[in-house]
Amino acid sequence: MRRTLWSVISVVLFSVGTASLALTLYLWFGDWPQEAKETVDHYRSLAARAGEPPAPLIANAHDRESLNLGGRWQAVIDPYDRGSLGGLAPRAFRPDEPADHAEFSFEDGLTLRVPGDWNTQDPRLVYYQGVVWYKREFDYELAPGRRAFLWLGAANYRASVYLNGLLVGRHEGGFTPFNFEVSEGLRSGSNLLVIKVDNRHGDDDIPAPITDWLNYGGLTRDVLLLDLPRSFIRSWEVQLDPSRPRRLRGWVQLDGAGPSCEVVLSIAELRIQEKLACDSSGRAQLDLEAAPERWSPENPKLYRVDLRSGDDAVSDRIGFRIIEAKGREIRLNGEPIFLRGVSLHEEAPGGGRANSPADADALLSLVKDLGANFARLAHYPHNEYIVRRADELGVLLWQEIPVYWDIDWSNPVTLERGKRQLSELIERDRNRASVIFWSIGNETPVGEERQRFMGELAAHVKRLDATRLTTGAMLSSGELLGPFMAKYYLPALVGWSPGTWTFRVDDPLGDLVDVPALNQYFGWYYSGVVGLVTPFSSRHARRVMLENIPRIRLEFAVDKPIVVSEFGAGAKRGMHADRESFTSYSEELQARVYEQQLAMLERQPEVAGISPWVLKDFRSPLRLYQGVQDHWNRKGLVDEEGDKKLAFGVLRDWYVERAQRSALQ
Ligand code: GCU
Repeated sequence: MRRTLWSVISVVLFSVGTASLALTLYLWFGDWPQEAKETVDHYRSLAARAGEPPAPLIANAHDRESLNLGGRWQAVIDPYDRGSLGGLAPRAFRPDEPADHAEFSFEDGLTLRVPGDWNTQDPRLVYYQGVVWYKREFDYELAPGRRAFLWLGAANYRASVYLNGLLVGRHEGGFTPFNFEVSEGLRSGSNLLVIKVDNRHGDDDIPAPITDWLNYGGLTRDVLLLDLPRSFIRSWEVQLDPSRPRRLRGWVQLDGAGPSCEVVLSIAELRIQEKLACDSSGRAQLDLEAAPERWSPENPKLYRVDLRSGDDAVSDRIGFRIIEAKGREIRLNGEPIFLRGVSLHEEAPGGGRANSPADADALLSLVKDLGANFARLAHYPHNEYIVRRADELGVLLWQEIPVYWDIDWSNPVTLERGKRQLSELIERDRNRASVIFWSIGNETPVGEERQRFMGELAAHVKRLDATRLTTGAMLSSGELLGPFMAKYYLPALVGWSPGTWTFRVDDPLGDLVDVPALNQYFGWYYSGVVGLVTPFSSRHARRVMLENIPRIRLEFAVDKPIVVSEFGAGAKRGMHADRESFTSYSEELQARVYEQQLAMLERQPEVAGISPWVLKDFRSPLRLYQGVQDHWNRKGLVDEEGDKKLAFGVLRDWYVERAQRSALQ
């Protein structure tokens, strides 16, 4: 009783004391101290903007007047996310004098390179899942009548952006650009920019937590301060009209335009100069006669397109082509094309998120070296540099959002996340000739909720962009493989294997997309385990499967073009063994899987393209075979440094011969 009484008394005394101190300060200074006012404003703005979404995406950010905020930023690793408390981190709180108490500071500690994942920059961050605070200061003078936007190429996975201590806004999703207007928040002179990045994603996110790649976190792509006129050209689309191939159609969207605005579109090489009137929302439609040279892998022709409106001007280099799915053919500019491809993660040779023109060149030169005309950018949107470089080199692209394996299919918030990631991706790349596919996911399990979810995504893509094809990779699931193995493979293990081995694929995802794709690992996963669970030796199990792969006939329930989006095998570069030993992770076994897979695919006319898994060994915490994998997925045709394995030559020879054959047709 006595203790309670004392604690009540002490609470009362403390609050009276605090109130009288505050009142004294108020009376003494004649107003709240500036610091106190800022704190109150700070919390008011936090509350007001807690969930503020980014502003509509500004296109061609790299071609605008901007301050590049890349370089070394100060950083704090904050595993329990304590920096948010009391506005410590957003205001870069620092002790003023030695007697000050401090539990946080940016000074004299970690610095991180931006753009760049944090995992490869500090040993404490290799597998880190959590919050890192980034901070830098910069001087800026925004001229009167100009507008400023903070633009980020990506931040994985959630970002909260604070300018001069106040929350500007938040973004979630690890692989697409976003921007916030900061015209008001910017100060003349020195500015404090703090960005909180949290790379954790939960079961209701896209992707869900478990993926077969390292969850690289951080400010992984460029950060720019854009400086734009009051009314500017925010985004635009100029594409050939698939239904009327001698016309260019599209639109231009202004931001901040008055009631009567005008845009001038020029394509000098086509002697086009067109005045376009905007409507009240600042949007101008374009539909004009044109006969541009068609973009293709053989002739990656790009045209300079200029747009002017008021004080703003922006340009881009655009390729004009038409991509269609007709029957079982993929047609580029009306001609059937076979996609000689390869899958790749966004990881530069040596490891780390790729994020620069040099990284794009390194990866795409390997793709070209393969004799490929197609790259499957797995399993999330890659950076803009590689997409623009593919436009220049003539490499067709598959772009994808990370609806990967199993996600929270029945959750409307998850569906909204998927739609938003697709919107941001399409908004960024809508004028890129190289992009022919929007993929809505990879190896998702058959099910009613998944079908509904994927149907929504497919429809969302078509609403945003009717000029490209939708796709998605189907899983060779146990339900499909079971009957096949029982009917063909097991008898073969005892020496009886007549005729064709028909593998029927009837995943209903094929009904939702223009070009269904299939991942299958005959010669690697499916036979590798038989030796462990049956009296047969693994060597016998592998030999029987490999010898019979050319007999396999893939049969699809839909009459559409099909891409075999994954096949392959692991190999540690430099690990060699006799071909007849079928030694796992030997370069010889990997090469033999490719030989046999290609022999099978040669006989599959309805397969319109392939993108074997995978161009380069990549980091993955799922790969635990010490001494061989060591947290790297070893299915690369080159190792993590970019050095080739035997299988690289097998695929290249097949592609070169295939390309010569189609050139003769
Ligand atoms: C799956 C999946 C890839 C994965 C690959 C593998 O098909 O799509 O993301 O890395 O197989 O097992 O290596």
